[in-house]
Amino acid sequence: MKFGKTLRGGSPRRLLDPIEIASRDEIAALQLARLRWTLSHAFKRVPHYRKKFLAAGVHPKDLKRLEDLRHFPYTTKDDLRATYPDGMFAVPRERVLRIHASSGTTGKPTVVGYTKADLDNWADLVARSIRAAGGRPGDTIHVAYGYGLFTGGLGAHYGAERLGCAVVPMSGGQTEKQVQLITDLKPQIIMVTPSYMLAIADEFERQGLDARRSSLLVGIHGAEPWTDEMRREIEDRFALDAVDIYGLSEVMGPGVANECIETKDGLTIWEDHFYPEILDPATGTPLPDGTTGELVITSLTKEALPIIRYRTRDITTLLPGTARSMRRIGRVTGRSDDMLIVRGVNVFPTQIEELILREPGLSPHYVLEIRRDGRLDELDVVVEMKSGPTGATTDTADRLVQKIKGYIGVTVRVRIEPAGSIARSMGKAKRVIDLRGSR
Ligand code: DLL
Repeated sequence: MKFGKTLRGGSPRRLLDPIEIASRDEIAALQLARLRWTLSHAFKRVPHYRKKFLAAGVHPKDLKRLEDLRHFPYTTKDDLRATYPDGMFAVPRERVLRIHASSGTTGKPTVVGYTKADLDNWADLVARSIRAAGGRPGDTIHVAYGYGLFTGGLGAHYGAERLGCAVVPMSGGQTEKQVQLITDLKPQIIMVTPSYMLAIADEFERQGLDARRSSLLVGIHGAEPWTDEMRREIEDRFALDAVDIYGLSEVMGPGVANECIETKDGLTIWEDHFYPEILDPATGTPLPDGTTGELVITSLTKEALPIIRYRTRDITTLLPGTARSMRRIGRVTGRSDDMLIVRGVNVFPTQIEELILREPGLSPHYVLEIRRDGRLDELDVVVEMKSGPTGATTDTADRLVQKIKGYIGVTVRVRIEPAGSIARSMGKAKRVIDLRGSR
């Protein structure tokens, strides 16, 4: 019991796929066999991979042990762009049953494709992820990830059905209606970005409804970086368990890794379908487990778009398994591209989020504005005060400036704005506004 609700526990072992709790040797043997297949499939069917392997002087036959993968070249978003739209597909178009695309803020979108078997595996892995989060057949799941080219909505949808759940395919936006449907259809589970979950919490309040009395028992949140402080905020406001889901379209979509509700200690990466590595983003050298760096993923079963050593740009750590035998990734602190360098100090938005959320007078809605003043970059933290009697005082801004200086080592300006003034995201939040090009 928590907040007057009976919350979910972990899955009994009999419900798990045997490979989730297999020995490390069994997992490694499966990975090796599947990796060999993937390398030769990519080499035979994708001229771009063949060219890159030959240029690097490697052949799929060179892979004798899992560690030999480090001799194969990395794949980046640029490879997908260079072969736009479908030059990296390893099957004829007639075998492709679904296409998704990333929005691509600059230039062309990244296009990804799935065969029947790929869609089946994806649904299985999202079903496994929802079960790890505490979902059970018979649950109703409210999906507020966007439907469409983004993988969030449809990925969550088919996984939920695969587990035997009823899906409310709400998609993002229409926040009033989100609240109405949650109130009336009484889902046990919601799948939505953490930032939009907070906008839904605000809407409950605006309508004079208590979100803690809603039917929701589990929130499955991802698609953007978030912090343990944000988890606590969501859990308190909705009286539920909030768990982390990770994925990216180039590798599959949501469900590459998911947190287990019984431990909430990072995300179990489904190692029967993905082989993870960590590398030093600056030098490209592989790093041992336990060190922080860029996550690199190789798909092990994908037919339409095998992906070899994909550089995700996501910064995290590989950790040993706990609730499962498979390894975990720590919370993704951010993308290397989103790291701000302010007067020589590296700053991730999540580091500032952590400190904002520890201030009782501040709301969790914030943006960071970076501008250039002469030759130096200046960072403004724009944050809303909480509505009501607990709102921020004049001391709050000074205290936050001091804490950011103390913990992160960077001097910022803090601007506290009235409740409701920062634009809400319907999906992934935009945390950084770069004003350096403008005056
Ligand atoms: O965001 C897939 C997804 C949908 C994941 C729904 C989870 C839930 P993309 O649009 O291709 O795919 O964006 C992938 O989002 O490389 C990370 O930078 C970020 N990201 C995804 N999940 C997390 C997470 C989907 N749990 C990019 N924590 C990734 C932090 C995340 N960042």
